[in-house]
Amino acid sequence: MSDAIRSLIAGNWKMNGLKASMAEFDAMLAGGGAFAEKTDLLVCPPATLIAAFADKAKGKGVAVGAQDCHQNASGAHTGDLSAEMLVDAGASAIIVGHSERRADHGESDALVRQKAQAVWRAGAIAIVCIGETRAQRDAGQTLDICGGQLKGSLPDGATAANLVVAYEPVWAIGTGLTPTTADVEAVHGFIRRVLTDRFKTEGGRMRILYGGSVKPSNAKELLDVANVNGALVGGASLKASDFLAIAAGC
Ligand code: 13P
Repeated sequence: MSDAIRSLIAGNWKMNGLKASMAEFDAMLAGGGAFAEKTDLLVCPPATLIAAFADKAKGKGVAVGAQDCHQNASGAHTGDLSAEMLVDAGASAIIVGHSERRADHGESDALVRQKAQAVWRAGAIAIVCIGETRAQRDAGQTLDICGGQLKGSLPDGATAANLVVAYEPVWAIGTGLTPTTADVEAVHGFIRRVLTDRFKTEGGRMRILYGGSVKPSNAKELLDVANVNGALVGGASLKASDFLAIAAGC
């Protein structure tokens, strides 16, 4: 991990968690302070829990985020939530463009870009996800796909303070499979070049997270790879002991 960039361990709870999950979050808050010196911790629960988690997390060194937002600030969009609402509830970062939303809801790069702009409009950090499918990797298209997603999904005006990129190979999500560290290094190095070409010095300081089957047993070797500035963790972020063990790998 680069010394110059503060690392970020972000948990994406996906569609998991009820009010009873507060006990697990409390355990994260209790242990999270130990990492404050060099690592930011962020938990993105389902939207139903953001307000309660954010209230509990005040002053505790663990931030609370959201998993998606609508691109508009308000209006006739039944069931949707705007970035402003999520920030009002206590979110300081919002994931956009997760592959599950790209696949399940047909979200395009152009829509993801609008959502990232909505996140900034509301004053939060956008965590923009990219990543190739198994078929695309097998066809040798990984860098082309990731490059296209970066070009299409990242708005102009991105800074190291308002944008985090998460590289999540689709085939590594929830499967227990991970790319080799050499593969991770190649993709993260490519992402860094794309970011610095476009955003100059800001691009050199943006955080690039790896996501996909990160767990305590593989976190350290993944987090040690050049240009890996943290992790976006799914399943293993649901348990405080696993989440904190991953943060210990920074
Ligand atoms: P897993 O850690 O469960 O593979 O999920 C990764 C992910 O999709 C995080 O956004």
